[in-house]
Amino acid sequence: MPMMSKRELPHRIVVTGARGQLGRSLCALLTDAAVLAIDVDEADIRDGDQVIPLIAGFQPDVVIHAAAWTDVDGAERDPDAAYAVNAVGTQNVALACQRAGAAMVYVSTNEVFDGRASRPYREWDQPAPISVYARSKWAGERIAQMLLNQLYIVRTAWVYAPGGNNFPSKIIAAADRLGRLRVVDDEFGNPTYAPDLAAAIVQLISTGRFGIYHLTNEGVCSRYEWAREVLRLSGREHIPLTPIPSSEWKRAAQPPLRAILANTAAAALGIRLRPWREALVDYFGADSRK
Ligand SMILES: NC(=O)c1ccc[n+]([C@@H]2O[C@H](COP(=O)([O-])OP(=O)(O)OC[C@H]3O[C@@H](n4cnc5c(N)ncnc54)[C@H](OP(=O)(O)O)[C@@H]3O)[C@@H](O)[C@H]2O)c1
Repeated sequence: MPMMSKRELPHRIVVTGARGQLGRSLCALLTDAAVLAIDVDEADIRDGDQVIPLIAGFQPDVVIHAAAWTDVDGAERDPDAAYAVNAVGTQNVALACQRAGAAMVYVSTNEVFDGRASRPYREWDQPAPISVYARSKWAGERIAQMLLNQLYIVRTAWVYAPGGNNFPSKIIAAADRLGRLRVVDDEFGNPTYAPDLAAAIVQLISTGRFGIYHLTNEGVCSRYEWAREVLRLSGREHIPLTPIPSSEWKRAAQPPLRAILANTAAAALGIRLRPWREALVDYFGADSRK
């Protein structure tokens, strides 16, 4: 029986990146709290003079920091731009939390690991990022840890949501455009449905148990297996799908091949996400445009 702690949703919550995949999912769930939902139009997190007073002035109990530079290949081409958002921007959000006495949720990535381990990564494993994006996200983790005691670091992976620019939507668009697909079969991860991740984060912030967490839908697959399931569930099973090694799929950034996350810490609090295939079924049910 997992150890349960007292659960009470914080009253005042800021969500950064509120128009992103995770931010939208969070805002849809947080109907019982007073929420300040901000994205780049309300305040650019790179600008401390703008974002620190805005967040601190709301007097939040918790800030869920979901804003990020998420273009992994773009980060390789323009590292300064990625660090400006993921490191400096996170520093500004953490300083706002410090000023308000608020807790922070920093959303991080499986890519902080190099993916060379033969087993899934646990929360206490040592990060060793191999791309600019991943290094900038790990910098954000360390900055937040230096500035705050009341901190949840939530690492997740392969996030998708209805209306987002994500792997399932790209597979469908490419299938319709090309009529056939080649997808890498040696990169493994945990597909994670943003509404499920949002629900787990809401559970987590109700515990007051600060620390590092790995939150993904349960189960592991390759990009190829994920694409095959996307084609099946979207009625495109007839599209020819060829497995290829990642060495044949040229990208600016080198992804970690097995940065698989194990949920150990949240599971000990009774927080688990359902299997990824079940969540993908809901995604197709939720998005009638597919
Ligand atoms: N997507 C994934 O597969 C994945 C995997 C692991 C971890 N994560 C992490 O999970 C979190 C949420 O990801 P997501 O998929 O929801 O990302 P997303 O859809 O790209 O949303 C990020 C949001 O942040 C905003 N943003 C970017 N730069 C900003 C700035 N300077 N000031 C204020 N807002 C800014 C973006 O606005 P614009 O769209 O206008 O730029 C966007 O609305 C991120 O921390 C990400 O690193 C994501």
